[in-house]
Amino acid sequence: MHTLLTDSPQKAAAFLRAGNLVAFPTETVYGLGADAFNAETVANIFAAKDRPTDNPLIVHIARLDQIALLAEDLSANARCLIEHFFPGPITIIVKKKPEVPDIVTGGLGTVGVRMPRHEVAQAFLEACGVPVAAPSANRSGRPSPTTWKAVYDDLDGRIACLLKGDRSKAGLESTVVDCTEATPVVLRAGVITLEQLRAVLPEIRSPQPDEPQAARSPGTRYRHYAPRAQVHLVGFPPEADSRTAYIGLDAPATPRAFGLVARCESVEAYAHELFDFFRRCDAAGIQTIYCQAVEPTGLGRALMDRLYRAAAE
Ligand code: TXA
Ligand code: MG
Repeated sequence: MHTLLTDSPQKAAAFLRAGNLVAFPTETVYGLGADAFNAETVANIFAAKDRPTDNPLIVHIARLDQIALLAEDLSANARCLIEHFFPGPITIIVKKKPEVPDIVTGGLGTVGVRMPRHEVAQAFLEACGVPVAAPSANRSGRPSPTTWKAVYDDLDGRIACLLKGDRSKAGLESTVVDCTEATPVVLRAGVITLEQLRAVLPEIRSPQPDEPQAARSPGTRYRHYAPRAQVHLVGFPPEADSRTAYIGLDAPATPRAFGLVARCESVEAYAHELFDFFRRCDAAGIQTIYCQAVEPTGLGRALMDRLYRAAAE
């Protein structure tokens, strides 16, 4: 299959409406979309990514009125999060309508709904005219793509169309919040922070790292976000070596002695850089990547979550 590159949201949407897979930019990471109500096309997403089919997909919308196509009786908590954070880098898990195909939700009775804030994403989703099921546009297990080139590296020849956009602003994925029970639970830390969520829903829970949440968010079962290199978490910049790389907030003593270095000005800049850095390390044949740990508050919570997963054996 030939993968068409385009800048036109309308052209990309025409591919999607014709039953094809289309990758597109968002403010978090790039997504790989299919018409959410076309079960056959959605199945192709799993094949293109080598993704296990029990891992459910997020459904992306352009307009709030599309929620009614997907969700059954929204809870007050779900409505509160929609009011405060849509459009934005958050996904809410709600009870699904029977019409939403099982392949989208991994057979669960719930569906993840997200309305991106990114302009090109909005133009694309609007032109699609249907809700779009989309995981991150990487091969399964690889770091999520934050540039169209990263998508191209992973999926060229496996998808019909790639809508080119700018580099993803956030660089980490959306926050996933389960709103199906009395107390909402954060299933995946993300760009909307726990502090921001608590400001509008004080009782919201964030499971401890050792709490079994796998049954509720199947995606958290898998090793994730990983480069080919070994990833180690460190408190301070380590000794340099040309086959190793370092990313963190503090500058190393001898930056030139590393194979690659990314010194980040802030936690936001670190998050923006991380997945792209992992991919650059792989391209450069780096064997070990040292990542400086950060305070697990604010966006640091999502960043540490991704670092732990990348470092997991
Ligand atoms: O920022 C993002 O969320 C990006 C962009 C493209 O929107 N998408 C993304 O999708 O990261 P994906 O498939 O890579 O991650 C979705 C996560 C997975 O951990 C999945 O298990 C979880 O959300 N999820 C999706 N639907 C769910 C559901 N109904 N119940 C529980 N977890 C769900
Ligand atoms: Mg993903």
